[in-house]
Amino acid sequence: MKTLTKVLLTSVTVALLAVKWNAPTFNAEILRGARVLVTGASTGIGEQMAYHFAKFGSQIVITARREQVLHQVAEKCLSMGAQKAVYIAADMSSDSDPDRVVDFALDQLGGLDYLVLNHIGSSPFSMWEGDTQHLGWLMKVNFLSYAQMAWKALPSLEQSKGSLVVVSSILGKMTSPFVAAYTSTKFALNGFFGVLSHELAMKSSNVTITTCTLGLIDTDSAMEKVKDISHVPAYPASEAALKIIMAGAARERELFYPWYTYIMTLIKDFFPATRDYIIQKSYNYSP
Ligand SMILES: NC(=O)c1ccc[n+]([C@@H]2O[C@H](COP(=O)([O-])OP(=O)(O)OC[C@H]3O[C@@H](n4cnc5c(N)ncnc54)[C@H](OP(=O)(O)O)[C@@H]3O)[C@@H](O)[C@H]2O)c1
Ligand SMILES: *[C@@H]1O[C@H](CO)[C@@H](O)[C@H](O)[C@H]1NC(C)=O
Repeated sequence: MKTLTKVLLTSVTVALLAVKWNAPTFNAEILRGARVLVTGASTGIGEQMAYHFAKFGSQIVITARREQVLHQVAEKCLSMGAQKAVYIAADMSSDSDPDRVVDFALDQLGGLDYLVLNHIGSSPFSMWEGDTQHLGWLMKVNFLSYAQMAWKALPSLEQSKGSLVVVSSILGKMTSPFVAAYTSTKFALNGFFGVLSHELAMKSSNVTITTCTLGLIDTDSAMEKVKDISHVPAYPASEAALKIIMAGAARERELFYPWYTYIMTLIKDFFPATRDYIIQKSYNYSP
């Protein structure tokens, strides 16, 4: 009976997917002139998001630590059609930089329509060895700064009926070995912004939160980490970036990209022992 229920649930799930996977309504026009702040935009998915916003004619503030790289990305954004593209170098492990970046964007753009929180600090791909110092640092970069920036930008987003976009991961929904610190920060994000989303709705807020559940994306940093260890297919950063922007503009609550992240989220608790066996066997690890 228990098994039958699970099989039925799986079938219903598959049927619902067909309905779910009709493209969301997305009107590129609403991004023309939109005031956007993208974090972690010097490389990877953040950089690609900056270029998409540029093509849509948005006004963009980008941030990351490396000023020289930001300069090049901002120049490219202008050449691609951005109405405005400025940058601010900042380190999200600092107490004050998250607020400073939001203040800079509000000052440069006169308000915000989109806050896209995307940056991550680098973290090892290896077994947990007790480095709680790194864990604390990463929580600050990947989680605390998100909470800080979101709260700081909220009054402006309320005024503009804006959107808050949080880039998370399938590792914010389920676990896998070798990424204890990273996974902790993503679970924290999903928890925090899940609560904030409820509270904004209960307060009849003008702001919507879009949480993005991404699978493996082909950015340099991700490819470098998994190169000898995992054989999961990687999806293109440019397409991931576009899907994130479309979901934010359409005010969707959640984005799943690529498609398999949705299925994994739905079925992950059906057969926990099998799930864990498959995950552990997918790595070539011997003690
Ligand atoms: N790639 C994947 O497979 C994958 C899968 C699931 C979810 N995601 C999520 O997608 C988002 C983007 O990932 P990605 O692969 O594009 O990352 P990435 O290529 O490693 O880029 C990270 C960005 O964050 C910036 N950054 C690093 N440390 C920082 C710090 N201390 N303060 C401020 N900025 C800092 C980096 O620039 P600087 O070095 O110049 O500071 C860079 O712009 C992340 O939220 C990630 O968790 C990615
Ligand atoms: C929503 O936006 C309107 C302006 O369009 C503003 O008057 C109202 O105060 C905003 N709501 C909240 C909760 O801030």
